[in-house]
Amino acid sequence: MIISGKELSAKMKAAMAEEVATFPAKYGRVPHLAVILVGDNPASVSYVTGKAKASAEVGIHNSTIRREATITEEELLALIAELNADEGVDGILVQLPLPKHISEEKVIAAIDVRKDVDGFHPSNVAALWQKQPCTLPCTPKGIIRMLQTAGVEIAGKEAVVIGRSNIVGLPVSKLLLDQNATVTIAHSRTKNLAEVTRRAEILVVAIGRPKFVTADMVSEGAVVIDVGVNRDPETGKLCGDVDFAAIEPKASVITPVPGGVGPMTITCLMENTIECFKAKFE
Ligand code: GUN
Repeated sequence: MIISGKELSAKMKAAMAEEVATFPAKYGRVPHLAVILVGDNPASVSYVTGKAKASAEVGIHNSTIRREATITEEELLALIAELNADEGVDGILVQLPLPKHISEEKVIAAIDVRKDVDGFHPSNVAALWQKQPCTLPCTPKGIIRMLQTAGVEIAGKEAVVIGRSNIVGLPVSKLLLDQNATVTIAHSRTKNLAEVTRRAEILVVAIGRPKFVTADMVSEGAVVIDVGVNRDPETGKLCGDVDFAAIEPKASVITPVPGGVGPMTITCLMENTIECFKAKFE
């Protein structure tokens, strides 16, 4: 079975659009998501465009604020302070990565935690690891949603996550653990990686290397979630971290690239924006 993140996203966005349409009468306005894009990294431009498009579909007001790559850290922090103070802004997202002269850590920590739609703020991260209510990071949230929608039983399963980033690897591992999976986090220094990944009943791959996971690394019947977004060096087309053509016949469930995890990330961002908006009125 191939899980279409695109189809699931379309359903979720349609349901959210219906809910958001009731907000002007209920709350006097719709949610407002502010997205900051520094520089012109093509992947970041494409992600930010996708976020604006999804906002329009759901009825969320989106402002994309673009700044030159030469912006100083001080100037960026001042912009965030302005958005924090703006009562009409419900969500703030700073597209990563940032230019090297700017501390991502400082920038993320400067965002008002109540407007942290990415779930990257240290208070949200701490809350996640303490099983407290929090804004969940969008990609991990989308992955769990896809597994649940596909009817994949997580409890008691051997889950292997390749990648240990703050954005995906670490939080998705924690969410899988919270669903009672037995979780192994593998990474670039893992020895005998194929041996480890063959144990996986659920394999989540987030390392950012085209077609890194080959058929010999996956067991028959595994559930394979591909978080990668890469250019295939041979064809120039988008491809995942998983060799889809070789693994799809072996996997019981697999996500495609494009049209898998990517759309779910953006859809969960819409959900998070609505949650931050509604929390203001509680
Ligand atoms: N860069 C890659 N993924 C993400 C994400 O989920 N949020 C932000 N802000 N930047 C990213």
